[in-house]
Amino acid sequence: MSGADDAASRIQRLRRQIERHNFLYYVKNEPEISDGEFDALMAELRRLERERPDLLTPDSPTQKVGGQPIEEFQSAEHIVPMLSMDNTYNEEELREFHGRVMRLLGEDSPPAYVVEPKIDGVAINLIYREGSLSRAITRGNGQVGDDVTHNARTVRNLPLRLHAGEEGAPEDLAGSTIEIRGEIHMPFEAFRRLNAEREKEGRNLLANPRNATAGSLKLLDPTVAARRRLRIFTYEVGGVEGIAVPDSHWETLRLLRALGCPTNPSVERCEDLDGALRACAYWEEHHGELDYPVDGLVIKVDSRSQRARLGATSKAPRYMIAYKFGANRQMSVVRDIRVQVGKTGQITPVALLEPVQLSGTTVSRASLHNFDEIQRKDVRIGDHVLVEKAGEIIPQVVSVSKELRTGSEKEFPRPVRCPVCGEPVQQDPGGVYLRCVNPRCPAQRKERIRHFGSRGAMDIEGLGESLVEQLVQREMVSGYADLYALRKEDVAALERMAEKSAQNLMDGIEASKERGLDRLLFAMGIPNVGSHMAEVLAEHFGSMDAFVQADIEALEAIPEVGPIVGRAIMEFLHGVSTREAIEKLKRAGVSMVSQRLAREENPNIAGRSFVVTGTLARCSRDEIEQLIESLGGRATSSVSGNTDYLIAGENAGSKLDRARELGVPVLTEDEFETLREEGRVSPTS
Ligand code: IVH
Repeated sequence: MSGADDAASRIQRLRRQIERHNFLYYVKNEPEISDGEFDALMAELRRLERERPDLLTPDSPTQKVGGQPIEEFQSAEHIVPMLSMDNTYNEEELREFHGRVMRLLGEDSPPAYVVEPKIDGVAINLIYREGSLSRAITRGNGQVGDDVTHNARTVRNLPLRLHAGEEGAPEDLAGSTIEIRGEIHMPFEAFRRLNAEREKEGRNLLANPRNATAGSLKLLDPTVAARRRLRIFTYEVGGVEGIAVPDSHWETLRLLRALGCPTNPSVERCEDLDGALRACAYWEEHHGELDYPVDGLVIKVDSRSQRARLGATSKAPRYMIAYKFGANRQMSVVRDIRVQVGKTGQITPVALLEPVQLSGTTVSRASLHNFDEIQRKDVRIGDHVLVEKAGEIIPQVVSVSKELRTGSEKEFPRPVRCPVCGEPVQQDPGGVYLRCVNPRCPAQRKERIRHFGSRGAMDIEGLGESLVEQLVQREMVSGYADLYALRKEDVAALERMAEKSAQNLMDGIEASKERGLDRLLFAMGIPNVGSHMAEVLAEHFGSMDAFVQADIEALEAIPEVGPIVGRAIMEFLHGVSTREAIEKLKRAGVSMVSQRLAREENPNIAGRSFVVTGTLARCSRDEIEQLIESLGGRATSSVSGNTDYLIAGENAGSKLDRARELGVPVLTEDEFETLREEGRVSPTS
């Protein structure tokens, strides 16, 4: 035998040895040699491959550290398409899934299920030809994805060659092709280290392990990806040729392990639905103990022949379903905290976030409500936070992941001055809000004018955000009543305005004069007077004149007006600029009488089911329930999977807990008003 052949066989032997030790380490969890011994084998292999570059192959274990960078991504086709999965959010929906499965299979062949953590990473399709990794493709559109083989190779526990000859695996992989699907993900510890490094380097932090994984797979340079400590758990088989696949998913997972592919140790086989439900209940409690991100469970029919009978729709298989925890939550990083000044001067802190996807929209800001809340949750700039978006509601910061702190997070001090006008702020007596009490504050002016022209209010077409900004900045209007004195020529001369857009605005302003008293009262932005209260007042007083003459007794005699609202109205009516504004509106010809609008079904409320709990500030529970009914909605007393919204006041108790458990969106009274008026609750209000 020549020396060259010796090298070739030594290289072969070393590779097989290293693969076997990888298998023992990553799949069996039973290493036989120390890290030092393993490193020595690797070092020898690397040396031999350097001496004989002609013998280097892409599936050599030395290739895990990353090869050459690529120029650009190629797309590649899956052999069998990668479908997506339907979601469920509660036990009831899981039972419905089981019901459908039973109807299709027949009552006498109930399925066994396998319950698996739903890993929040990136799905990957690994194509092995003759046992060697030939391609790793992201899901893409299900038919065609990105070829990310160069980065997938660097995932430490992902085998570059499948094992043959292990018990349960074929003797020989010659002539075989197999698609193995799994989830590449980043364990929390790797994520923490990555962000700590990025922080030291002064780079922006990655929002969560999922985004970090997706970003790593999109790197052009695999040596960078190799340092990301990604991991894979394999969970399904796609197209196969030349390898016998067992008749159950559970056995298929065993086959995957025998082939050297790591599977998730936390999967469980359950004899029936009740077993699967118990597994769900267990993981709902305990998934936080896993060292990688999980956003739910996948419940899979175990038998392959039953799977075949169930088939798939064009989008998703009928034999598996996702069961999602706590609906719409994601981790993100607080880039900065800003304060917003509302139309009544209320100062609201808002977290600016690394953008994350939440139920189909990109979320880059979340409300922090007030400074007591910031303190209570201890939210700091640079913190990793859990963000939640329930239904259409403004995203909220749920909690801070303090274990991910590096020590360089910055606390955000309670402002002592208004960030816009610089005047001192005041704490609301008895309340939690800070307020800018300078009535000339440009931020408040802008917000008051914006609100005046908004949809549920005077609905002035053409009065957009940037126009309001300019009008206030150039002191063309100082209050909403000045809108009616604007001249077309002056408006046309503003930035991004022209003859036509100025005319549109003029027409919009003209049309707004006929909205009627209820809309006007709402538009004036009286503290604590939402659109419903404005209607009540308009109906009760009939005209602006009667309204402005009201005293506190007259107001409190109205059943829906409590002491807080009564006092707010009196203060407003006695404010220096109120009478003057009303005079201006009157002179401009704005309608000041009630149109006695008949209550109509409201499309945002009708057909939806609400539960009210806790003590509300502006009306009693009965009143808001009557209001819901009168708008075509349903007010019920207990929270279930069918509840669309929970409206929660102070001291809300078990119903609030239940709603959170079920992922039912929770609204404050204000958010309910906004939902009613706009069909959504906007984050800037
Ligand atoms: S099975 C039909 N099993 O969830 C395609 N998927 O929402 C599903 N996922 O695209 C493959 N853990 O990225 C399966 N144990 C698991 C999973 C899992 C996470 C992901 C996968 C898929 C997405 C669907």
